[in-house]
Amino acid sequence: MRKRIWFAVVMLVLLAVTLPGRGQQNPTVISVDAAHPGAAISSTMFGIFFEDINFAADGGLYPERVKNRSFEFQEPLTGWHEILGLSSKGLDQPKGELDVRTDDPLNKSNPHYLRVRVYEPGYGFWNSGFRGIGLESGAEYRFSAYVRSSGPKAMRATLTDGSGHQIGIGKLEGFDEHWKRYETVIRMDSTVQRAQLNLFVDEVGNLDVDMVSLFPADTWKQRPNGLRKDLVQLLSDLHPGFLRFPGGCIVEGRQLATRYRWKTTVGDISQRQTIINRWNDEFDQKPAPDYFQSFGLGFYEYFQLAEDIGAEPLPILNCGMACQFNSSETAGLNQLDEYVRDALDLIDFANGPATSPWGKIREQMGHPEPFHLKMIGVGNEQWGPRYVERYKVFAAALKAQHPEIKLVVAAGPAPSGEPFESMWATWRDLNADIVDEHYYMSPEWFRANTGRYDHYNRSGPKVFAGEYAAQTAGMTSSENRNNWKAAISEASFMTGLERNADVVQMASYAPLLAHVDAWQWKPDAIWFDNLHSYGTPNYYVQKVFANNVGTRIVPVTPQADGGLYTSASLDEHTHELIIKAVNYNAESRSAEIRLSGFHSAGTVKVTTLANSNLTAENSFDSPTAVAPQSSRLEVKSGAIAAMLRPYSVTVYRIPAE
Ligand code: AHR
Repeated sequence: MRKRIWFAVVMLVLLAVTLPGRGQQNPTVISVDAAHPGAAISSTMFGIFFEDINFAADGGLYPERVKNRSFEFQEPLTGWHEILGLSSKGLDQPKGELDVRTDDPLNKSNPHYLRVRVYEPGYGFWNSGFRGIGLESGAEYRFSAYVRSSGPKAMRATLTDGSGHQIGIGKLEGFDEHWKRYETVIRMDSTVQRAQLNLFVDEVGNLDVDMVSLFPADTWKQRPNGLRKDLVQLLSDLHPGFLRFPGGCIVEGRQLATRYRWKTTVGDISQRQTIINRWNDEFDQKPAPDYFQSFGLGFYEYFQLAEDIGAEPLPILNCGMACQFNSSETAGLNQLDEYVRDALDLIDFANGPATSPWGKIREQMGHPEPFHLKMIGVGNEQWGPRYVERYKVFAAALKAQHPEIKLVVAAGPAPSGEPFESMWATWRDLNADIVDEHYYMSPEWFRANTGRYDHYNRSGPKVFAGEYAAQTAGMTSSENRNNWKAAISEASFMTGLERNADVVQMASYAPLLAHVDAWQWKPDAIWFDNLHSYGTPNYYVQKVFANNVGTRIVPVTPQADGGLYTSASLDEHTHELIIKAVNYNAESRSAEIRLSGFHSAGTVKVTTLANSNLTAENSFDSPTAVAPQSSRLEVKSGAIAAMLRPYSVTVYRIPAE
């Protein structure tokens, strides 16, 4: 009996060893018909969605180190603390006091300032930064403030680490009784993730301060008031087709009073009025009472960023509606003039000559040339008859004066059912330009919907997949992960977007950025702390697609077959055929990619994004656990013998003869 069992075991093992694995079975034939290229792929195809959520702007891309620099948060001393020291006159006699005032302020948009009342030399206060202040050894920071003084002539600044060890020191001096801006440069001795900024006054008397700033000198393109370099680099590496800004629900505001108004975000930064960030108190489980918008990153900077990274700017404007998930406030039709005016003036700001009022402001800010704005979003994630009524008012005015500008309209918050269906029917009737669809769905949904656009109506409005991301646990769940399962599912779906590029003209993953200590929404493409950042597997999927997008669709079969998803395109600029294949299987899969109507002129550049573990993630310690790898292959007899790795996304770029 024992012998028989052993014999059976040995036979089974032998069978397992000798039977071909999936990778050794007959290869799947992938046929690419380069002789019959299809529609053009829009140069805007894969872009980015930016919203100030998760500390993406203040505390993130906008690298100001001082939180509440203008004392305009709801609690004007948020982020600021007294340095309590013993007074020589006893415990009940403070060395000084912090007094927030509004009389005779720096300017109307910045009504609060801090009066530092110094009763004894050495009185001080400190700022905690955005979850601490990130500083780098050897780097220079511009320390500045607006100051007015009736006595003290100087203010000292020190930067200290968590143990109180000093790592940088500077001084502003020469104050008089008028508001003036003072600046000095501080070089840091060490790298600290969570430092604090301490300010001291060594003379008795009153000192008024506002717009206290500590700003890295080494910004993207070395611009003063510039953006955080590592984060812009990650965005730039995507080669995005467009940049959607400033959101997202932030456009709408929870109430109309706190909606996004682009006009308050341009010009001198001390004149940009700080308001609450709508993500401040959106989620009970993730409260962020210190989340406000300084607008140091405003519309000028967004346009400049888009230009820097070669992306078409896509501003989204409030259409007279606050978030329909919150207050759902609506501006009356008779109150819409201001909103429509904002849209018309924005076109002037972006494209108008320097002789136009808003074009002049752009010129004064340093950009006489136009920003070449071609699209505007009317409303963010709106729906329903109230929205349609307001859209009609916008469209009438904008199309009459600027027929060259395409309008992006919303289809509500979900990818099917109501109100999605009725919004689409309306947009078809109204012959809208581009419809923005949002899908925050499960990874399974993404893989099951790769054919979503195969049967979309080819005439009428085009599609903008304006916000999407696979949710591993559920929409707005804090358990969502940026893992490989989510990312490869998005990649599968994106092959369908690309194959249908005649209908889908733009797509963007959302949200884009998240601070590890200050996020509200998961998943996000890029994570950062005060000093470092990394791209998630989802980021790398975006990168691989956006960097290999091509200019014309090429027919490919099969498009979806047992966990295999494909798309193909021609790049008429580089004269290459580009093939993408996603293998959502635990085994490798051998494929013969047959190229018809195409003669290759050299080796195939292969980019592979793979991980056999669907739960794999990137992290600060292991930022490229899932990241693209390059290799080469040859075309032999008009075909590529490919081995698609388990759970992989592979891109082949083949030079044409
Ligand atoms: O991306 C996060 C949010 O999701 C956006 O602000 C909103 O448009 C959508 O509901």
